[in-house]
Amino acid sequence: MRIVSGIQPTGNLHLGNYLGAIRNWVRMQDEHGAGECLYFLADLHAISQPHQPAELASNTREMVAALVACGIDPERSVLFNQAQVSEHAQLQWLLNGTARMGWLNRMTQWKDKAGKNREGASVALFTYPVLQAADVLLYQATHVPVGEDQKQHLELARDIAQKFNNDFGAGEEVFTLPEPIIPAEAARIMSLRDGSAKMSKSDPSDMSRINLTDDADTIMTKVKKAKTDPEPLPSDKGGLDGRPEAANLVGIYAAMAGTSQAAVLAEFGGKGFGAFKPALGELLVESLAPINARFIELRQDRPALDAILRQGAAKARALAGPTLDRAYRALGLVRG
Ligand code: TRP
Repeated sequence: MRIVSGIQPTGNLHLGNYLGAIRNWVRMQDEHGAGECLYFLADLHAISQPHQPAELASNTREMVAALVACGIDPERSVLFNQAQVSEHAQLQWLLNGTARMGWLNRMTQWKDKAGKNREGASVALFTYPVLQAADVLLYQATHVPVGEDQKQHLELARDIAQKFNNDFGAGEEVFTLPEPIIPAEAARIMSLRDGSAKMSKSDPSDMSRINLTDDADTIMTKVKKAKTDPEPLPSDKGGLDGRPEAANLVGIYAAMAGTSQAAVLAEFGGKGFGAFKPALGELLVESLAPINARFIELRQDRPALDAILRQGAAKARALAGPTLDRAYRALGLVRG
């Protein structure tokens, strides 16, 4: 098995990132052998939209600190940023010859992000999914853990791999077709102020999210002030219908405790938020405190972070080299 996944270095990691993606990465790392998991910061993807260079650099380092604090072990997983592994950009160019305009035009993320201003969107935003395909095909990924919103990009990666193999493989598979892994209890964590909006670092209200940098008091305050309704908790999941804020808090509890929403409601059904919120706050504080402590310490150790990325990049390059070379040759590009 070869597991590959990436995350954009957005900075300011929050509970949504942790429960939605990172915790799952840690679990896969712990279940698989050393070297089977590759995790990277998609910094090359980040330049597809307007950005501040200084911010991108600091977000990239901050994200490494967060990943390590959350449990990604750079000795067991290959942890790196794309920008230090030029093979990603090289393979993207080769795959640009295989990807079709029509395929990219159908990508919903492209349509959403470009909006009405397609003429003004960057070419990088359009070819973003081709770079993403290169990210995984470069390492012969068999499995790619992603959120539901990335499923279409993964299907595109499979289409590109298949067409390339067909057109240029001469009967051999140059690329492995990757399978998405979308976590069953896909923890979709919503804003604490609005149960219908995703928890997001770009929400102007800091009360809407729990940051990995929040201390115990801040976490407790945010949970206690979270928006709810006046009803007590229901005793089964059906009772959460039409109560997005209640559903979100129950979902957070279940995800954090590693149990089901039904089990949480079996315990708290009939109780009010006055009882549930302190319990949720305590659970969050207890689980996040060790992560918070490591994160705060590591994020200021720039030499350590840069060393992690450098070593990860060296391992990634060694794994990528043979596949990239095969892709060049398959296309008839002379490599001495
Ligand atoms: N596009 C992904 C996201 O926004 C991030 C990403 C980039 C990625 N390259 C990848 C995810 C390769 C999985 C595999 O979440």
